[in-house]
Amino acid sequence: MIIAGNFKTNHTRSSTFSYCKELDSLLGAQKSEVYVFPSMCALPYDDFAHFSIGVQNAYPACNGAYSGEIGLEQIQELGINTLMIGHSERRLILKEDDELCKRKFDFFSQYGMNVFFCIGEDLQARRDARVLDVLASQLKSIDLDYSRLVVAYEPIWAIGTGVSASLEEIKETHRLLKELGCKKVIYGGSVSEGNAKDIMNLEYVDGVLVGGASLDLKRFYQIIQQGEEI
Ligand code: PGA
Repeated sequence: MIIAGNFKTNHTRSSTFSYCKELDSLLGAQKSEVYVFPSMCALPYDDFAHFSIGVQNAYPACNGAYSGEIGLEQIQELGINTLMIGHSERRLILKEDDELCKRKFDFFSQYGMNVFFCIGEDLQARRDARVLDVLASQLKSIDLDYSRLVVAYEPIWAIGTGVSASLEEIKETHRLLKELGCKKVIYGGSVSEGNAKDIMNLEYVDGVLVGGASLDLKRFYQIIQQGEEI
């Protein structure tokens, strides 16, 4: 399983560092790949024994005049090799479009980074039965054969709402994404220690991306343990 925690704009540098240290001491040689995506100013060196650090965003350049952004040079200095692209909060709040997401994918994949590429439909699209169209268009021109690509399916209406998609919806959407050519697909959207096991047990599901529930180390650790039982 792939189990990733997305801190978004939560935790300070100090609380992130103690979280990561404690997580590393709790984890052993588990089967799952575990990732933590801290906020930008709390990024530690990626030198933990049992999990990897990822960045929630980066600009597609090594360095340069892109105020407020970080580039490859800053990421590499920390030994980080994992990047999230296109989270719906960036697409919606920061107006990041498919074209910019594609530029990020093309740039960072060229450097062999692990890419967590986020896609997801809004409630209207689900009601209108346009889910596959929306997801396919978000993945348009992304090289699905890139071996370090993880597609994170996160229905917008399930993020931070406490209401995850149903098991049936998750399974069916992941099936369609695999049919489309995605190799690894993880689910995100109100994943918690209460539903993670059932979600990870589904066919076509390769893991989970956890927001709110990852902020509490005990809850995130429980989810990781559930992944180990699968
Ligand atoms: P959530 O967030 O688990 O708080 O719903 C998931 C995400 O946005 O990655």
